[in-house]
Amino acid sequence: MPIRWALLHLLLLSTTTVLGASHISRSNNRIVNGIPIPIRDAPWQVSIQALGHHICGGSIISSKTIITAAHCVFYIPAILLQVRTGSKYWNRGGQVINVAQVKRHPNYGTNPTKNDIALVRLDKRLKYSRNSYRIRLAKETPESGAAASVSGWGLQKENASVGSRDLQMASLRIIDRATCQMSKYAVLGNKVAKGMICATSSASDACQGDSGGPLVVDNQLVGIVSWGIGCARKGHPGVYTDVALYREWIFKYMKRRE
Ligand SMILES: *[C@@H]1O[C@H](CO)[C@@H](O)[C@H](O)[C@H]1NC(C)=O
Repeated sequence: MPIRWALLHLLLLSTTTVLGASHISRSNNRIVNGIPIPIRDAPWQVSIQALGHHICGGSIISSKTIITAAHCVFYIPAILLQVRTGSKYWNRGGQVINVAQVKRHPNYGTNPTKNDIALVRLDKRLKYSRNSYRIRLAKETPESGAAASVSGWGLQKENASVGSRDLQMASLRIIDRATCQMSKYAVLGNKVAKGMICATSSASDACQGDSGGPLVVDNQLVGIVSWGIGCARKGHPGVYTDVALYREWIFKYMKRRE
Protein backbone atom coordinates (compact mmCIF):
# COMPACT_ATOMS: atom_id res chain seq x y z
CA MET A 1 0.00 0.00 0.00
CA PRO A 2 2.23 2.81 -1.24
CA ILE A 3 -0.13 5.54 -0.03
CA ARG A 4 -0.01 4.35 3.54
CA TRP A 5 3.74 4.23 3.47
CA ALA A 6 3.81 7.70 2.07
CA LEU A 7 1.59 8.94 4.87
CA LEU A 8 3.63 7.12 7.45
CA HIS A 9 6.80 8.50 6.05
CA LEU A 10 5.34 11.96 6.11
CA LEU A 11 4.33 11.50 9.71
CA LEU A 12 7.76 10.28 10.73
CA LEU A 13 9.31 13.22 8.97
CA SER A 14 6.86 15.55 10.65
CA THR A 15 7.42 14.10 14.09
CA THR A 16 11.15 14.43 13.68
CA THR A 17 10.73 18.00 12.60
CA VAL A 18 8.44 18.87 15.48
CA LEU A 19 10.81 17.32 18.01
CA GLY A 20 13.91 18.53 16.27
CA ALA A 21 12.66 22.03 15.54
CA SER A 22 14.41 23.13 18.70
CA HIS A 23 14.79 21.64 22.11
CA ILE A 24 12.73 24.52 23.40
CA SER A 25 9.42 23.57 21.83
CA ARG A 26 7.30 21.50 24.13
CA SER A 27 5.51 19.22 21.75
CA ASN A 28 6.87 16.21 23.57
CA ASN A 29 6.89 17.33 27.20
CA ARG A 30 4.97 16.51 30.50
CA ILE A 31 4.24 18.31 33.75
CA VAL A 32 7.15 18.46 36.23
CA ASN A 33 6.25 18.27 39.94
CA GLY A 34 2.53 18.12 39.40
CA ILE A 35 -0.17 16.06 41.02
CA PRO A 36 -2.46 13.55 39.30
CA ILE A 37 -5.97 14.93 38.84
CA PRO A 38 -9.28 13.40 37.79
CA ILE A 39 -10.41 14.60 34.35
CA ARG A 40 -13.46 16.30 35.89
CA ASP A 41 -11.01 18.81 37.43
CA ALA A 42 -9.90 19.82 33.91
CA PRO A 43 -12.76 18.60 31.68
CA TRP A 44 -11.53 20.81 28.82
CA GLN A 45 -8.21 18.94 28.60
CA VAL A 46 -7.73 16.72 25.54
CA SER A 47 -4.88 14.64 24.15
CA ILE A 48 -4.10 15.31 20.49
CA GLN A 49 -2.80 12.15 18.85
CA ALA A 50 -1.24 11.01 15.61
CA LEU A 51 -1.63 7.30 14.76
CA GLY A 52 -2.47 6.54 18.39
CA HIS A 53 0.50 8.41 19.88
CA HIS A 54 0.01 11.36 22.19
CA ILE A 55 1.71 14.37 20.62
CA CYS A 56 0.24 17.36 22.42
CA GLY A 57 -2.41 18.70 24.75
CA GLY A 58 -5.32 20.90 23.77
CA SER A 59 -8.48 22.44 25.22
CA ILE A 60 -12.12 22.16 24.24
CA ILE A 61 -13.55 25.58 23.38
CA SER A 62 -16.72 24.41 21.64
CA SER A 63 -18.31 21.02 20.95
CA LYS A 64 -16.47 21.02 17.62
CA THR A 65 -13.36 23.05 18.30
CA ILE A 66 -10.11 22.32 20.14
CA ILE A 67 -7.49 24.99 20.71
CA THR A 68 -3.80 24.06 20.77
CA ALA A 69 -0.35 25.32 19.80
CA ALA A 70 0.49 25.79 16.11
CA HIS A 71 3.80 23.96 16.56
CA CYS A 72 1.85 20.84 17.58
CA VAL A 73 -0.01 20.52 14.32
CA PHE A 74 2.28 22.29 11.91
CA TYR A 75 3.51 19.39 9.80
CA ILE A 76 0.91 16.73 10.44
CA PRO A 77 -2.03 16.36 8.03
CA ALA A 78 -5.46 16.54 9.70
CA ILE A 79 -6.33 13.08 8.38
CA LEU A 80 -3.73 11.53 10.71
CA LEU A 81 -4.93 13.35 13.82
CA GLN A 82 -7.41 12.32 16.50
CA VAL A 83 -8.46 13.85 19.78
CA ARG A 84 -9.21 11.96 23.01
CA THR A 85 -11.49 13.77 25.46
CA GLY A 86 -13.08 12.87 28.79
CA SER A 87 -10.32 10.62 30.13
CA LYS A 88 -7.46 11.11 32.58
CA TYR A 89 -5.52 8.57 30.51
CA TRP A 90 -4.22 9.69 27.14
CA ASN A 91 -4.42 6.15 25.77
CA ARG A 92 -7.79 4.83 26.99
CA GLY A 93 -11.29 5.84 28.01
CA GLY A 94 -13.39 8.84 27.08
CA GLN A 95 -14.22 9.59 23.43
CA VAL A 96 -11.87 9.54 20.47
CA ILE A 97 -12.85 11.82 17.62
CA ASN A 98 -11.25 12.32 14.21
CA VAL A 99 -10.03 15.68 13.07
CA ALA A 100 -11.69 17.34 10.08
CA GLN A 101 -9.47 20.37 9.70
CA VAL A 102 -6.57 22.21 11.28
CA LYS A 103 -6.37 26.01 11.20
CA ARG A 104 -3.00 27.41 12.20
CA HIS A 105 -2.56 31.10 12.84
CA PRO A 106 -1.61 32.56 9.43
CA ASN A 107 1.37 34.38 10.97
CA TYR A 108 2.67 31.47 12.99
CA GLY A 109 6.46 31.48 12.91
CA THR A 110 9.45 29.68 14.36
CA ASN A 111 12.86 31.15 15.17
CA PRO A 112 11.69 33.05 17.07
CA THR A 113 8.37 31.42 17.89
CA LYS A 114 5.39 33.68 17.26
CA ASN A 115 1.60 33.31 17.10
CA ASP A 116 1.86 29.72 18.37
CA ILE A 117 -1.85 28.99 18.23
CA ALA A 118 -4.07 26.70 16.16
CA LEU A 119 -7.66 25.51 16.07
CA VAL A 120 -8.55 21.91 15.44
CA ARG A 121 -12.01 21.23 14.03
CA LEU A 122 -13.51 17.86 14.95
CA ASP A 123 -15.37 15.83 12.35
CA LYS A 124 -18.31 15.36 14.74
CA ARG A 125 -19.54 17.10 17.85
CA LEU A 126 -18.17 15.76 21.11
CA LYS A 127 -20.69 14.97 23.83
CA TYR A 128 -20.47 17.33 26.76
CA SER A 129 -20.41 15.70 30.21
CA ARG A 130 -18.82 16.49 33.53
CA ASN A 131 -15.64 14.94 32.14
CA SER A 132 -15.70 16.65 28.77
CA TYR A 133 -16.61 20.31 28.63
CA ARG A 134 -15.54 23.58 27.08
CA ILE A 135 -13.49 26.26 28.79
CA ARG A 136 -14.12 29.97 28.35
CA LEU A 137 -11.43 32.11 26.78
CA ALA A 138 -9.98 34.85 28.97
CA LYS A 139 -10.98 38.35 27.88
CA GLU A 140 -7.88 39.94 29.34
CA THR A 141 -4.27 39.01 29.81
CA PRO A 142 -3.93 37.79 33.43
CA GLU A 143 -2.20 39.99 36.01
CA SER A 144 1.30 39.26 37.13
CA GLY A 145 1.13 37.12 40.26
CA ALA A 146 -2.27 35.55 39.49
CA ALA A 147 -2.63 31.91 40.58
CA ALA A 148 -2.68 29.64 37.53
CA SER A 149 -2.60 25.94 36.73
CA VAL A 150 -1.27 23.93 33.83
CA SER A 151 -2.12 20.33 33.00
CA GLY A 152 -0.97 17.61 30.65
CA TRP A 153 0.55 14.20 29.99
CA GLY A 154 4.06 15.48 29.28
CA LEU A 155 7.41 14.51 30.77
CA GLN A 156 7.62 14.60 34.56
CA LYS A 157 11.32 15.46 34.45
CA GLU A 158 13.46 17.25 31.90
CA ASN A 159 14.92 14.68 29.47
CA ALA A 160 12.75 11.84 30.82
CA SER A 161 12.15 9.21 28.18
CA VAL A 162 8.42 8.64 28.73
CA GLY A 163 5.60 10.89 29.79
CA SER A 164 2.95 10.46 32.40
CA ARG A 165 0.19 7.87 31.89
CA ASP A 166 -2.30 9.90 33.86
CA LEU A 167 -3.12 13.57 33.73
CA GLN A 168 -0.95 15.83 35.90
CA MET A 169 -1.62 19.36 37.05
CA ALA A 170 0.76 21.95 38.52
CA SER A 171 0.06 25.24 40.29
CA LEU A 172 1.96 28.27 39.00
CA ARG A 173 2.01 32.07 39.18
CA ILE A 174 1.67 34.34 36.19
CA ILE A 175 4.66 36.50 35.26
CA ASP A 176 4.02 39.46 32.97
CA ARG A 177 5.82 39.56 29.67
CA ALA A 178 8.28 42.35 30.50
CA THR A 179 9.43 40.63 33.70
CA CYS A 180 9.63 37.31 31.88
CA GLN A 181 11.81 38.85 29.19
CA MET A 182 14.23 39.98 31.93
CA SER A 183 14.73 36.39 33.13
CA LYS A 184 17.56 34.19 31.82
CA TYR A 185 15.86 34.49 28.45
CA ALA A 186 17.31 38.00 28.08
CA VAL A 187 20.81 36.59 28.56
CA LEU A 188 20.13 33.70 26.22
CA GLY A 189 18.60 35.93 23.56
CA ASN A 190 15.16 34.30 23.58
CA LYS A 191 12.50 36.83 22.82
CA VAL A 192 9.33 36.84 24.91
CA ALA A 193 7.32 38.64 22.25
CA LYS A 194 3.91 40.25 22.26
CA GLY A 195 1.34 37.47 22.26
CA MET A 196 3.20 35.53 24.97
CA ILE A 197 2.66 35.29 28.73
CA CYS A 198 4.77 33.39 31.28
CA ALA A 199 4.13 31.32 34.38
CA THR A 200 6.42 29.69 36.89
CA SER A 201 6.80 28.24 40.37
CA SER A 202 9.78 27.17 42.45
CA ALA A 203 9.61 23.57 41.28
CA SER A 204 6.80 22.95 38.79
CA ASP A 205 6.59 23.58 35.06
CA ALA A 206 5.20 22.27 31.82
CA CYS A 207 7.57 20.05 29.84
CA GLN A 208 7.70 18.16 26.52
CA GLY A 209 4.32 16.63 25.67
CA ASP A 210 2.38 19.35 27.50
CA SER A 211 2.54 21.66 24.48
CA GLY A 212 -0.77 22.95 23.28
CA GLY A 213 -2.34 22.33 26.69
CA PRO A 214 -4.19 24.77 28.96
CA LEU A 215 -2.89 27.45 31.31
CA VAL A 216 -5.92 28.34 33.42
CA VAL A 217 -6.76 31.22 35.77
CA ASP A 218 -10.20 31.32 37.46
CA ASN A 219 -11.52 28.58 35.18
CA GLN A 220 -10.69 30.60 32.08
CA LEU A 221 -8.15 29.73 29.42
CA VAL A 222 -5.40 32.35 29.60
CA GLY A 223 -2.56 30.49 27.90
CA ILE A 224 -1.45 27.66 25.64
CA VAL A 225 1.76 25.77 26.49
CA SER A 226 4.28 27.00 23.91
CA TRP A 227 7.96 26.91 24.84
CA GLY A 228 10.62 27.06 27.52
CA ILE A 229 14.26 26.13 27.94
CA GLY A 230 14.55 22.85 29.76
CA CYS A 231 11.75 22.18 32.25
CA ALA A 232 11.38 23.74 35.72
CA ARG A 233 14.86 25.26 35.50
CA LYS A 234 15.44 28.23 37.75
CA GLY A 235 15.14 31.55 35.90
CA HIS A 236 13.51 29.91 32.86
CA PRO A 237 9.73 30.39 33.15
CA GLY A 238 7.32 28.47 30.97
CA VAL A 239 6.16 30.58 28.02
CA TYR A 240 2.56 30.43 26.85
CA THR A 241 0.53 31.94 24.03
CA ASP A 242 -1.49 34.85 25.51
CA VAL A 243 -4.98 33.68 24.55
CA ALA A 244 -6.78 36.98 25.29
CA LEU A 245 -4.89 38.65 22.45
CA TYR A 246 -6.17 36.11 19.93
CA ARG A 247 -9.90 36.17 20.76
CA GLU A 248 -10.86 37.94 17.57
CA TRP A 249 -8.97 35.54 15.36
CA ILE A 250 -10.47 32.57 17.25
CA PHE A 251 -14.06 33.80 17.05
CA LYS A 252 -13.76 34.79 13.42
CA TYR A 253 -12.75 31.26 12.51
CA MET A 254 -15.40 29.63 14.69
CA LYS A 255 -18.18 31.83 13.32
CA ARG A 256 -17.22 31.16 9.76
CA ARG A 257 -17.23 27.42 10.44
CA GLU A 258 -20.29 26.82 12.63
C1 LIG B 1 18.91 17.44 29.26
O1 LIG B 1 19.63 17.23 28.06
C2 LIG B 1 20.34 18.38 27.59
C3 LIG B 1 20.96 18.03 26.26
O2 LIG B 1 21.67 16.84 26.34
C4 LIG B 1 21.36 18.82 28.64
O3 LIG B 1 22.03 19.98 28.21
C5 LIG B 1 20.64 19.11 29.95
O4 LIG B 1 21.55 19.45 30.97
C6 LIG B 1 19.82 17.90 30.40
N1 LIG B 1 19.04 18.26 31.56
C7 LIG B 1 19.05 17.58 32.70
C8 LIG B 1 18.18 18.10 33.79
O5 LIG B 1 19.71 16.56 32.84
